[in-house]
Amino acid sequence: MKGIILAGGAGTRLLPLTKVVSKQLLAIYDKPMIYYPLSILMEAGIKDILIITTEECEPQFKFLLGDGSIFGINISYTIQPAPEGLAQAFILGEKFLNGEPGVMVLGDNIFYGQNIPDLIQKAMWDADHGEATIFGYKVRDPERFGVAEFDKNNQVISIEEKPKNPKSNYAITGLYCYPKDVPEKAKALKPSARNELEITDLNNVYLQEKRLNFIPLNDHSTWFDTGTFESLYDASSFIRTMQQHQNIIIGCPEVAALKNKWIDVENFIKLCYDKGNNSYREYLLSMIGE
Ligand code: G1P
Repeated sequence: MKGIILAGGAGTRLLPLTKVVSKQLLAIYDKPMIYYPLSILMEAGIKDILIITTEECEPQFKFLLGDGSIFGINISYTIQPAPEGLAQAFILGEKFLNGEPGVMVLGDNIFYGQNIPDLIQKAMWDADHGEATIFGYKVRDPERFGVAEFDKNNQVISIEEKPKNPKSNYAITGLYCYPKDVPEKAKALKPSARNELEITDLNNVYLQEKRLNFIPLNDHSTWFDTGTFESLYDASSFIRTMQQHQNIIIGCPEVAALKNKWIDVENFIKLCYDKGNNSYREYLLSMIGE
């Protein structure tokens, strides 16, 4: 299975923070934002990853992650010339997917929850069998997101993009898993009023074809879309609290690589000493009992 991280957009909602740094490289406590979605894909066992970004920001991502070999994975890059919608990722990524299903995670979405990698693996199995999967999360401000509507039996019957009068509190998170026909479906979409190929329209296509699974996340997971100053701060504060109180590290590609045995201990130690002499390095070294 292949993974796509969409890290495009101008980041205008976070100016001036995003004037010189890509939004998806801003700090979420002790790591660049993209480490979190990258780690989620790696924890689900995905090794082939395409990062879609802007021409201006591509060098920054390459400088940080290179071709992925430091983490024992393959990272390639594609440019999204203009912010023309999330669903466009599957047109830009068609060659990369090469007829296979794909998981997409948005570069500004932070997921935390022990069972998320298992849920992605289940979604990947379903994608191999022709079904798409989306993940919902109950929020207080659903009008900022794609929102699910349910019938009496709790089945999704529609999804609306940023509705003025949301039909539920379930936001559709930025984690999507699609079968191999996704580029074809994305190409058939018409641009919306804001001139974007909407991921919500793509999801509605699978819904109409009765090929869309909906997984609610709230019970054991936390999700942040870091699109505002408040959510950016909240995500940092959450990661700091969790890491300090539970003595864990969240969103760490070095650890995901080691656990998957994609790098050996020797390479892991090299990665540790690449870091400054700080608590990040100390935590990494503690993973191997140093
Ligand atoms: C996008 C999608 C929306 C989804 C959200 C998740 O919104 O259009 O459906 O709920 O990502 O982060 P945007 O970030 O473009 O406002």
